[in-house]
Amino acid sequence: MCGIFAYLNHCVPVTRERIIELLLRGLERLEYRGYDSAGIGIDGDFDDQGVPQATLLKSPGKVAKLKALTEACSLNMNQIFNSHLGIAHTRWATHGEPSDLNSHPIPSNEKCEFSVVHNGIITNYRELKTFLESKGYIFITQTDTEVIAKLFQFIYDLDKAKELNFRELCEQVVCQLDGAFALVIKSLHFTSEVVAARRGSPLLVGIKSSSKLKTNIIPVAEGCVISRANSSRGYNTGFSSANLSSSFSELGSLSSFSNLNLCENEHCELEFFLASDASAIVEHTRRVIYLEDNDVLHIVNGQIAIHRLKLAGSNPTDPAKATYREIAHIELKIQELMRGNYDHYMQKEIFEQPDSLLNTMRGRVNFDKHFCVLGGLRQEMETMQRARRLIFIACGTSYHSTLATRAFLEEMTRIPVDIELASDFMDRHTPIFRDDVCFFISQSGETADTLNTLRYCKGRGALIVGIVNTVGSSISRESHCGVHLNAGPEIGVASTKAYTSQIIALVMFALMMASDKVSMIQRSKEVISGLQELPDKVKEVLKIDQEIKQIAKELIDEKSLLVMGRGYQYATCLEGALKIKELTYIHSEGILSGELKHGPLALIDENMPVIMILIKDATFTKSQNALEQVRARHGKPIVICTPECEDIVEKYAFKTIIVPSTTDCLQPILTIIPLQLLSYHLALAKGYNVDFPRNLAKSVTVE
Ligand code: F6R
Repeated sequence: MCGIFAYLNHCVPVTRERIIELLLRGLERLEYRGYDSAGIGIDGDFDDQGVPQATLLKSPGKVAKLKALTEACSLNMNQIFNSHLGIAHTRWATHGEPSDLNSHPIPSNEKCEFSVVHNGIITNYRELKTFLESKGYIFITQTDTEVIAKLFQFIYDLDKAKELNFRELCEQVVCQLDGAFALVIKSLHFTSEVVAARRGSPLLVGIKSSSKLKTNIIPVAEGCVISRANSSRGYNTGFSSANLSSSFSELGSLSSFSNLNLCENEHCELEFFLASDASAIVEHTRRVIYLEDNDVLHIVNGQIAIHRLKLAGSNPTDPAKATYREIAHIELKIQELMRGNYDHYMQKEIFEQPDSLLNTMRGRVNFDKHFCVLGGLRQEMETMQRARRLIFIACGTSYHSTLATRAFLEEMTRIPVDIELASDFMDRHTPIFRDDVCFFISQSGETADTLNTLRYCKGRGALIVGIVNTVGSSISRESHCGVHLNAGPEIGVASTKAYTSQIIALVMFALMMASDKVSMIQRSKEVISGLQELPDKVKEVLKIDQEIKQIAKELIDEKSLLVMGRGYQYATCLEGALKIKELTYIHSEGILSGELKHGPLALIDENMPVIMILIKDATFTKSQNALEQVRARHGKPIVICTPECEDIVEKYAFKTIIVPSTTDCLQPILTIIPLQLLSYHLALAKGYNVDFPRNLAKSVTVE
């Protein structure tokens, strides 16, 4: 949901051309987060006083269009800057259509005294806008972000704020904002300085230096206090000029904590890369600082400061309370971010599944002695065994992984298992108790609905377990304990390999919970043998790629597509239908075949394409009934089945897709792959961009 990137050099001579190249490259890496428009903000020509004027280059559409715009730019590309801040943004539109004006950076005025790149949604922007309009400011965009730029301008122009440095000014602005944001700001008044802040949306800072850094720990100073006079939650409601004025009376109370030199030598060459995620940083440096909610970052002259705003009524269990931020080391490999010989990231990620599944299991499953150990959960096993409920919470595809494993989790743990869509969970204000264990499953680790639910459950005393792919993400940092999927970065917007790894992680958890139950020994052995054979079976399924491509060609003109199954296969139906709708824009519905006779059967006739999944498990006879019912209504089902049902199915099926069989709880991994491939080929056949489906973005950091 929007990607932010910024590059600041200190004592490193860099040409304007190189700065633009770095910004565009950062945006290309982040483009999967949003691709409605892209823009950069850099220093332009110098005025009579030798102050560089800001230049914003922006374009609706993808980064490639912005690149063409920069190539046509008349600025001197050989101009060298020893110190310079460039900011960049790729947008997933929330407020205002994708257009030049609504693209970021959003300036405070024509001179671009302050320019802002923002990821998130400012929920009180209407109140702020009304206030600023009453002060004579004229808004020209439809974005919520413009209030941030104008608020910088408004406070900067106040007489009593003249003494503020860039960070103090930023704190004053951020104190007024409600909602979610990651922000980076460039200003004509503070050239070659950067301020950035986050609440709810991710932001990290990469540091590259020519000599050894003095420290790996950045102390965090207290920032100003957010206290709104008439706010019910302390900071989340009404805004008025009275409020604003009262906050400004606190200007004098700002902490004077000074910035920290990162190197012994003040002329040490330093480069800073700010980004929404590590994929845009890792090719430059592996040293990063993850900013926490309400952090305000300031970098100037190779010195860094982080101040943390104090929220009235803030959560005492918030880990961001820590008084330092560590400079962490990221492990991500650059080649994992490349497409290699594949045409699309999605294709690469589908075909990587034999390896990604192996990596999820690596070091955790003992195939000889038939047991599983998830190191990150070991300490909490006793609490989990005693839990009143196990609640698995997620969104979209990640939610489907909980549906795919619920029966196995119930079977192995013998504890009530709830699965929940995060947004619905919060809408219901679901009761949570101290003896609940809440699992948060997320590829990105940043999904706002999931993260908010995590905080809600944590605040009520439950044990919080993160099952996350992205190392260092908010969910992984805010969980008490957890499991990393180790599936490698997933860049295609439609989730594929993360889904199958989530299933494996949840199956391993269930096995670990059953490790001391004698009655489960046989079942555990069967599943662990299944796990061992799984990567090879996935390779087998991938061989039917061309067969699926052919089926996709035949379905190209369909307007609707139903996917039916039951038991372990119901999750495959929902997940398959989601892949088809998000990539091909064909209406698609996953249907529990047990429900067929309760309504959906009315949809069936000779024109309605239906995909049915039939597996020789406990539900087989009932699934077979559903197949016959569809056939009796002249439906032409394409059936995904295992070799042992082929003969039985053949007489009813219009077409069959055979996948290898495995133990019931692992079968969803083998049945989803044909549907991943089908959605991929169908989208390509229809001429759509599979890695960037319309209206969507990876990592949904807004509610
Ligand atoms: C669909 C898809 C989404 C995500 C959902 C949750 O292909 O990718 O439905 O699964 O937005 O995202 P994470 O797993 O990052 O929390």
